[in-house]
Formats: sequence, C-alpha cells, structure tokens
Amino acid sequence: MAYDIATIPGDGIGVEVVEAARPLLELSADDAGCAIEWTEYDWGTERYLETGGMMPEDGLDRLADHDAILLGAVGHPDVPDHVTLRGLMLPIRKTFDQQICKRPAVLYEGVESPLRGYDSESDDGDIDFVVFRENTEGEYADVGGRAHVGFDHEVAVQSAVYTRTGTEAIVRAAFEEAKRREQRVTNVTKSNAQAYGMVMWDEIVEEVAAEFPNVTVDRLLVDAASMDLIRRPDEFDVIVASNLFGDILTDIGAIVTGSMGLAPSANINREGAYPSMFEPVHGSAPDIEGEGVANPLATVLSGAMLFEHLDERDAADSLHRAVEEQLADPEAPRTPDLGGHGTTADVITDLRDRL
Ligand code: NAD
Ligand code: IPM
Ligand code: MN
Repeated sequence: MAYDIATIPGDGIGVEVVEAARPLLELSADDAGCAIEWTEYDWGTERYLETGGMMPEDGLDRLADHDAILLGAVGHPDVPDHVTLRGLMLPIRKTFDQQICKRPAVLYEGVESPLRGYDSESDDGDIDFVVFRENTEGEYADVGGRAHVGFDHEVAVQSAVYTRTGTEAIVRAAFEEAKRREQRVTNVTKSNAQAYGMVMWDEIVEEVAAEFPNVTVDRLLVDAASMDLIRRPDEFDVIVASNLFGDILTDIGAIVTGSMGLAPSANINREGAYPSMFEPVHGSAPDIEGEGVANPLATVLSGAMLFEHLDERDAADSLHRAVEEQLADPEAPRTPDLGGHGTTADVITDLRDRL
C-alpha cells in the first residue's frame, strides 16, 4: 500500500522538524510493508511576502485528494499572525471539517517534568492524558467584525459559535476514547460565566454521557482545570474542551510532560471525506529558528498518529518504540529543551539507528 501524503513544512522550525522527520516516517512505513509518496507544498510566509498569498488560490483543492497532511508550523515575526494563520492553517482545519483535535500528553520514562514529585519512574507521578479539543468553531469561529475603525468609539465584536452537531461530535469522540482508556472524562467548561454556549455545551456532555454508562464524567471550570493540570496532572484521563480552552490546556499538557517539543497532535475529519492533518502542538519558534536544535520528536510522534489514523499500526508502533527507547536511554542525544546539548540531526540519526 502506498499513501499519498501532503507536507506543508510552513515557517520557522516547522521546516526543520518536518524535513528531519520525513525520512523516519519513510523508514517505519517501509518496515511495516507500506510506503509514503510525499507531495511537498512550500506554502507559508516566504510565499506570502513574495506573492501576497500564504497558499495558491486553489490550495485547498490541491490538498483535498491526499490521504493525509503533515504540517510543520505557521507563523513569522514579520507578518501578523492573524494574516498567516488565517491564510493557511486555520482554513485547512475548517474547510476539511477536522472537527476532532486529539492531543495526548504523556510523561515518558527518562523525561523530567518541571513539576516536583513527577517523574516517570514513580508510579503515582505518572502523567498520561489526552485532550479532545473542538477544532472548527467555538471561539475560533471567525464571526465578528470591527466598526468605527480609528475613532475613539471603535468597536470589535468576536463571537463564539457552538453548534449542536460540532459539540456532539467532539464530546462523543472523547467518550469513545475514554472507553478505550480508563473510562474517565473531564468536561472543561466555563458555564458559570458563559450562559449560552457553555451551558449548551454542558447539556450536550450530559446527554452523550448517558450513552456511556461505564464512563465517569467530572466537570471542571477552565480556571480550576488549569490549576489542577499543574497540581494533579496524573489524575486526568480524557479531557474534552472547546477550541480556545483546548488550545491553552494543551500547552500546559506539553510543558508538564517535559517540553513543547514532545507534544503531537491530530486534526481529524471523522467521515474521511477530506484528509486529516497531523502537526506538532508547538509553533514556528522564531527564538530558536535556524539553530538546528528544534526537538523533532513532537513531529515524529505526530507521524505516529498519522499512521494510526491510516490503520498502519506497525509503523505507528515502531516510531513510538524508537522514541520511548531513546528518551529512556541516558546516553542518547537530546535537544536543549530536554536539558541536552544535541541537535535535531543528532536525535534523528539516533532514532534511525533504533528503527
Ligand atoms: P511556539 O510553540 O513556537 O514556541 C514557544 C516556546 O517553546 C519557545 O520558547 C520555543 O523555542 C519552544 N519550542 C517550541 N517548539 C519547540 C521544539 N520543537 N523544540 C524546542 N523548543 C520548542 O509558540 P509561540 O512562540 O507562541 O509562537 C511562535 C509562532 O508560531 C507564532 O507566530 C504563532 O502564532 C505560531 N504558532 C503556530 C502553530 C501552528 O502552526 N500549529 C502553533 C503554535 C504557534
Ligand atoms: C495550535 C496553535 C494555533 C491554535 C494557532 C497558531 C492559531 O496555537 O495549534 O495550538 O490556536 O489552534
Ligand atoms: Mn496552541
């Protein structure tokens, strides 16, 4: 089986980590008896600065027929983020109806959490949860506008939009995942202050929960959830959250499990009508761009999620195994975000040997 995968390396370290990860994905595919055919799209802010478009007019059409998309990151210090992200990454999530954003947070053996008492060697300090983030609407619905621009009475309206179908889809996906895990869902909400959207959200969680009698469900307000992800991260299993809340909580998830450079992500189109997209949680990290020290593991693990999505379990497992082995090996190279002195290339070469 040969898969037709689009890559959009994008900007900054996005380019570095995608280039680094690609040969490893090819190798693990090969070992598993399948193959990857890449189509690379050099879209991003360089293109925007040259042509005025982050991607060509027909960019989404060109992506639509691929089996999946591997994205690096988008964002450049010279162009405002709302221009670059709304010109490339956000339209892909929305147009391809990638409603389900799945973001695991795992404290691997050999990795140190910045939290006291949390290391992967002690049983009760084990962090392993997954955030199901609604991915195409909510606070990111892009509904609103500005009026009286430049005047004292200037006004900006940014509306959050929650549909019943969109909310049900993410909540059901979270409960289905909980059935495969420890049967616990935490609903992260803000229905104490947001009496329309978040109250409907909570009602839908209750309705869906009734279909899963063996799954226990807790409700946490997002402010308290942010605290508890620092105070007791080991107690979470599956978290379901709106688009913005999920965005924020997954950066917390990344850092309590060691680094932004380790956190993978899947943007899933449930029906398979359009390709799903896999990308690290982190951004283009202009502060370390060009230094050759970006941690490629979040992208490699996103590649493993891509293989899982394609039902290529062996390829996914071999990538996971290689990453786990590397992190557990005190002699193995690691990048500075994990306290090491290694480069992106050192980490990849070591992984290649393990594969
Ligand atoms: P960021 O994730 O790029 O960086 C935050 C911090 O984490 C920085 O200190 C960075 O050096 C570090 N970091 C991130 N990834 C790393 C890696 N792989 N290895 C080692 N260290 C890593 O977030 P930011 O600085 O807020 O955003 C930078 C740009 O990226 C902005 O333009 C933002 O809009 C964009 N962004 C894009 C995406 C995406 O395309 N999916 C995601 C997040 C941010
Ligand atoms: C992420 C990013 C994006 C998001 C930004 C770049 C729009 O932070 O994927 O986590 O908020 O979804
Ligand atoms: Mn984010």
